[in-house]
Amino acid sequence: MNDAINIREAIPSDAEKVLKHLHRIASETGFMTMGAEGPSKSIEAENKEIEAILESDVTVLLVALDKEEIVGIAEIHGNDKPKLNHIGDISISIAKEYWGLRLGTTMMEKLVEWAKSPSSNLKRLELTVQARNERARRLYEKMGFELEAIMPRGVKDNGVYLDVCLMSMMVGEI
Ligand SMILES: CC(C)(COP(=O)(O)OP(=O)(O)OC[C@H]1O[C@@H](n2cnc3c(N)ncnc32)[C@H](O)[C@@H]1OP(=O)(O)O)[C@@H](O)C(=O)NCCC(=O)NCCS
Repeated sequence: MNDAINIREAIPSDAEKVLKHLHRIASETGFMTMGAEGPSKSIEAENKEIEAILESDVTVLLVALDKEEIVGIAEIHGNDKPKLNHIGDISISIAKEYWGLRLGTTMMEKLVEWAKSPSSNLKRLELTVQARNERARRLYEKMGFELEAIMPRGVKDNGVYLDVCLMSMMVGEI
């Protein structure tokens, strides 16, 4: 990975840059659930969300910066409901120009490390990925995620129904 890229937890003042990155990704790839229109959140709402994430023991948001620009985002999104607060939902998006540089690998390693650390309550990590997204599937398999199910018609892209894989990894002792 490029040594100039710095990975850290997002802070509230990153909000505008986070939304800019998500808009960029939305137009660069059809692999995200979000459409080409990108996120509809305001900067203020994103700012508040990041503030809450910093206090959370089930959610973490990492950003990768090349100088001042966010070029990658990786998140474990937890659930506040007591019956589900051991489950973290993973998402990751890297700007196309930076694909294949092991940035995805490094960010996923940091997420898993956080999930396994004493500051997390998580016991199960899960994610969904389009079956055709071979690069992402390879990344998740490499990290130790296992395929649980294939969901036929799990997503619709430009009128085409696509298979979606549900993958998971157990973390921590119970
Ligand atoms: C998927 C994504 C996060 C991967 O990040 P990345 O930085 O490009 O990945 P890495 O460089 O760390 O490579 C990950 C693995 O994929 C492999 N890989 C690269 N291109 C591949 C391809 N076309 N097919 C299969 N595997 C491929 C790499 O060789 C590497 O495996 P290895 O370490 O065993 O060699 C990134 O490409 C991305 O954000 N894509 C768009 C959004 C997306 O798809 N997000 C996931 C939605 S579930």
